Amino acid sequence: MKTIIEPFRIKVVEPIRMTTGGERERILRDAGFNPFLIHADDVLIDLLTDSGTGAMSSLQWSGVMRGDESYAGARSWFALEAKVRELTGFEHILPTHQGRASERILFELLGGPGKVVPNNNHFDTTRANVEHSGAQAVDLVIEEGRHPRSRHPFKGNMDLARLEALLEAEGTKAGSREGAERGARRSDEGTKTRNDEHNAAAAPRLRARVPLVMCTITNNSGGGQPVSLENLRGVRALCDRYGVPFFLDACRFAENAYFIKLREPGQQNRSVREIVREIFDLADGATISAKKDGLVNIGGLLLIRDKELMRRADELLILTEGYVTYGGLAGRDLEAMAQGFEEVVHEDYLQYRIRSTAYLGEKLLAAGIQIVEPPGGHAIYIDAAAFCPHIPPAQFPGQALVCGLYRHAGIRAVEIGSVMFGGPGRPPPAMELVRLAIPRRVYTQSHIDYVVEAIIELYGQRDRLRGLEIIEQPPTLRHFTARFREL
Ligand code: F0G
Repeated sequence: MKTIIEPFRIKVVEPIRMTTGGERERILRDAGFNPFLIHADDVLIDLLTDSGTGAMSSLQWSGVMRGDESYAGARSWFALEAKVRELTGFEHILPTHQGRASERILFELLGGPGKVVPNNNHFDTTRANVEHSGAQAVDLVIEEGRHPRSRHPFKGNMDLARLEALLEAEGTKAGSREGAERGARRSDEGTKTRNDEHNAAAAPRLRARVPLVMCTITNNSGGGQPVSLENLRGVRALCDRYGVPFFLDACRFAENAYFIKLREPGQQNRSVREIVREIFDLADGATISAKKDGLVNIGGLLLIRDKELMRRADELLILTEGYVTYGGLAGRDLEAMAQGFEEVVHEDYLQYRIRSTAYLGEKLLAAGIQIVEPPGGHAIYIDAAAFCPHIPPAQFPGQALVCGLYRHAGIRAVEIGSVMFGGPGRPPPAMELVRLAIPRRVYTQSHIDYVVEAIIELYGQRDRLRGLEIIEQPPTLRHFTARFREL
């Protein structure tokens, strides 16, 4: 059979309030042309984010009733701990209320002024937490990852040559004679040599400058694109060679593992669970927002292998999140997470998930609408600069498209371009995108068909889309609250 069905039946439904074009016009104006300021009740199809917006299963909801609300040592915590250990092999696991709480703790421990943190692409909150600690966040995704039309199967990959160059340069700056000597020897011989004795002396100095290397799977800021196992192994090997820890931002680890199974040579006959385990085996730690592949509405994890670092993370967790057996969560949330981490690696679920996102992307491409190719795991990113060539970046083509989508069909999406990343003193972003993020298990194929039809209709009248000007904005993270005027 060619047709892939939603691998679930619907037991509870949530009505969508229908709106007319006239109502939406008024609502959009009242919201200053910023969909973040629209009431969710006034949205027909909400594709603002895939984070915390998924539907839970009947087993998760029954887990909510079983939740043990004991302050310390709750049964629900042990259920979650056992599930995450089974999946990842990590012994030390900390629960947090969401991904950025894990990031906050990690970078309070490892960040700091003068340090550099490389990543394929930092997500906004990761970058914000790195920078808040005083460190510098550096993005090293491969060149293909910066071009919407490139069909590289693993566009989230880290550029290993640039990572090596960064580690080498920082090693030299750290005053590591060993690093400089090693570099010289390498250019003399033209080959890479591994010298553990030199590394033992140089590594602590390098770690004082590059406290960790991160990799985001899948790469959200780069179009929801996966990272290959081969690339992750390459990052691990470099981290070993230079003595620097390797952490994952593993929010969408199951979607990434499924892409590896589909696309990476030699991986087709392995189970997603095996691939997931290998991914985590490569890392020294991970931050996870369970609001994505944990299939819950709230929750996060911090995984750390190093015992001493974990002890210090425990202290920070208790300071702001809560005791180590609940983090910032209720027992019922822990129970729902334990079940979510089980369901997310079911391959019929992942097949449906990845296929339904691709379905939306392929329909748009077939209609001549440029997206970031190939379709990502959790979202489709429309190339707004190509959609509205008559609107210059300074007039926010992505925001114009986001407003058009709401006005035309009640669809809410998010601009990822000059509104989000631009502003006084900042360089213009490489791409003007609009993200259509797909909540997990929430919308059916006919909802997606409605989205496709709306976007194609809008494309037919794209010359009517109008640029915008900002009339009010806060100094940071302006996309959440800025207000606009249509030009
Ligand atoms: N890392 C990545 C790759 C993310 O996509 C997110 C959240 C976070 C970290 C932070 O997790 O929200 O639980 O604190 N992404 C959401 C999004 C908000 O819409 O893409 P959080």
